[in-house]
Amino acid sequence: TPSSKVDLQGQSYEKDDWFNLPPTIASQIARKLHVQKDHPISITRAIIESKFPSQTYKYHNDFFPIVSTLQNFDSLGFPLDHPGRSKTDTYYINKGTVLRTHTSAHQADVFRRNESEGFLISADVYRRDAIDRSHYPIFHQMEAARVWDRKTVPNGDIAAAVWKDMEALPKHNMTVEDPNPPMHPERNPLQKKHLEDEAAAIAAHLKRSLELVVAEIFSRAKKAAIMANPDFADEQLKVRWVEAYFPFTSPSWELEIFWQGDWLEVLGSGVVAQDIMTNAGVPSQIGWAFGIGLERIAMLLFEIPDIRLFWSQDERFLSQFRGVMDNLDSLKRFVPFSKYPACYKDVAFWLRSSSSAAGGGGSTFHENDIMEIVRDIGGDNVEDVVKFDEFTHPKSGRKSLCYRINYRSLERTLTNEEANSYHEEVRKALVEKLGVELR
Ligand code: PHE
Repeated sequence: TPSSKVDLQGQSYEKDDWFNLPPTIASQIARKLHVQKDHPISITRAIIESKFPSQTYKYHNDFFPIVSTLQNFDSLGFPLDHPGRSKTDTYYINKGTVLRTHTSAHQADVFRRNESEGFLISADVYRRDAIDRSHYPIFHQMEAARVWDRKTVPNGDIAAAVWKDMEALPKHNMTVEDPNPPMHPERNPLQKKHLEDEAAAIAAHLKRSLELVVAEIFSRAKKAAIMANPDFADEQLKVRWVEAYFPFTSPSWELEIFWQGDWLEVLGSGVVAQDIMTNAGVPSQIGWAFGIGLERIAMLLFEIPDIRLFWSQDERFLSQFRGVMDNLDSLKRFVPFSKYPACYKDVAFWLRSSSSAAGGGGSTFHENDIMEIVRDIGGDNVEDVVKFDEFTHPKSGRKSLCYRINYRSLERTLTNEEANSYHEEVRKALVEKLGVELR
């Protein structure tokens, strides 16, 4: 019988029927790219940290990746039926234990420590997701928070204290679109326990703090672009704030950056839910938090074209960043090594009828399961997986799906035999694990 225990990062865990962690993911937990000297993720972390003075913000870079569902979800007010909790989106060790899906999992614990007015937490996070050039099941985030205490600010006037700190922040000359009011009664409400002028001041402090980060990244990216090409014509950089929703902040905002023709969502943020402060034993504190994705920022900073590169151990990748952490001004653009040929293979199949019929008793089909099967077999030699056809048979009601898999290594040319053998394994695994019928 299979062992009911699993050893991860020097700890032993009891498995149950929630366990869904593939060995490929487990084996990468130890990599910690965000603390590897001169790794682009680590460089990006250091640049962002440089905009948050260590007198105010305490940096945490070594929190353990396996957390309880209490930390990852309940402490943050996620409802029990939130989709983020599902096995299709999250890696579970057992019913109460997951690989953290975001750095917010540590918010409540750090608020409870009550060691500083602010903090930064950088860490690896894990999500079951699609496969393409900007998604990978492991990525890195930096969480930040800044709080003020009603009991210790002059006259208990939070708004005045926050505005004073806000005025002391440096200015920038980046154009930022921010079309919405900081809060809105239906779309982005003020919390009951907060005054409007407090939340408005906190919003302004948060937005300025983050704009300074983006301005810093842009100016370093531009410098690197000019170093690579002295005729580099400055593109008009666009940044905008949009209203958002998170169970643990209100009001909430996302920051988007216009890059290579698309609006990229790079961070989520907001005024921390007062219940989190209360539950953490610091009810008189009020403040903001944000979570920023480091890969997206690093891709834009260095012009790194594919997220798989961050996991590369190839010297042609790693050598390009050496020495940068000792002298951030030596930061250069990444020079891609030659692109190897793509190898496209299609697979078409019928879903089990129980999984396509609503309310069917069988296990429900989820696209992330396909992604994981392909990733397990092809590893980092898969560039993307796209669904290109889907139809339901008019008589039988059965559903058919077609996926196109692009097998391509970043480091060498894959032979057609290799791609074929991956693809054969994928086809077999789809039948064995998902019970589909190949067409
Ligand atoms: N944890 C959120 C995410 O991963 C981002 C976030 C952090 C939002 C902090 C608000 C405050 O999407």
